[in-house]
Amino acid sequence: FRTLDSADVRGKRVLLRADLNVPMHDGAITDTSRLERVAPTIRELADKGAKVIVMSHFARPKGQVVPEMSLAPVGKKLGEILGKPVSFVNNCVGPDVTKAVDGLKDGDVLLLENTRFHKGEEANDKDFAKALAANGDLYVDDAFSAAHRAHASTEGIAHFLPAFAGRLMEAELGALSAALEHPERPVGAIIGGSKISTKLDLLGNMLNKVDVLIIGGAMANTFLAAEGYNVGKSLQEPDMHQTARDIMKKAKEKGCEIILPVDVVVAREFKPNAQYEVVAIDAVPDDMMILDVGPRSVENIIKALGKLKTLVWNGPLGAFEVPPFDTATVEVARVAARLTKEGKLITVAGGGDTVSALRHAGVANDMTYLSTAGGAFLEWLEGKALPGVTVLREVGDSLGLG
Ligand code: 3PG
Repeated sequence: FRTLDSADVRGKRVLLRADLNVPMHDGAITDTSRLERVAPTIRELADKGAKVIVMSHFARPKGQVVPEMSLAPVGKKLGEILGKPVSFVNNCVGPDVTKAVDGLKDGDVLLLENTRFHKGEEANDKDFAKALAANGDLYVDDAFSAAHRAHASTEGIAHFLPAFAGRLMEAELGALSAALEHPERPVGAIIGGSKISTKLDLLGNMLNKVDVLIIGGAMANTFLAAEGYNVGKSLQEPDMHQTARDIMKKAKEKGCEIILPVDVVVAREFKPNAQYEVVAIDAVPDDMMILDVGPRSVENIIKALGKLKTLVWNGPLGAFEVPPFDTATVEVARVAARLTKEGKLITVAGGGDTVSALRHAGVANDMTYLSTAGGAFLEWLEGKALPGVTVLREVGDSLGLG
């Protein structure tokens, strides 16, 4: 695909698809990472003399105008982060937008209202994509985290304008392919989370890509139960036992080592500072539940990390939101961060919970690469093509640019 290196943007109207879908609580933005990560692309375009027109979805208004889902407050924050004014127009297509765009000077930044206020966005409607495209001369896609959606602003529009990948898109794709397409081996993955059923494709793809697969979270309970261990009152999926056994078998055939817990932290209640015990996996009491992996398991995981060159991390090892069940996740995260800092390990982490868990451990910024994506990161781990990325490649190919 083409990057900003080959885009002549001076004096041009550049339509930049960002992912400004930031978490918000009571009207306040609780995490500005996505704004900070897209800011360099906006700055570069503005500094090169482009008229920068930023568009994004926000939340899920389902084709209706929902005032609480306006991007206006996000635009204000974006302006603070950029240190330059970001003007705002209350639509993303139509005469008001044309007027606002016509009034832009080179280097100005304008934010359009939530693209999902129009039904055409999620339907990837051609006419809507064309109407969006009418606002610009070039399209720059910097929304890797929305690239799993084939929507008008992430996919359709690229068929109507010369399309380029922005700097964040470039960085995400570079880091992700370095971790799984051409990794330094051995490569391992830590996959946590609560359900096998939601991560089946992901686990299947991992078996083809990694040398070591470390399984944690409630998902590990299902594997343990499938192996015949009593997991007491733990969260697990009885109808996934056969699937779990199939995964173990396939791993063996492919020479992928699976690391499961050998001891676990159990409690009767899931609440802060609940009374807990550490037990071997063959000694889980009937009336208790597994909420974290135990210290011997942590040791095993740390030993495995010591042999890896590349690590992909998705999902916490335990119920990290409630201490002390954050212990294993925090310890392993800190070791991964130290190995990364020492230049011994390349770490790529992503997916909603993972970022919060690494932040909780205080090491989110110490990974080699922390993805801004949730669902898109998961789909990429599943080995699926992301429509927003495919279209950039295809458009590049059709121009003979690869
Ligand atoms: C995300 O937060 O993962 C992206 O912004 C996509 O949002 P969506 O799941 O509402 O499409």
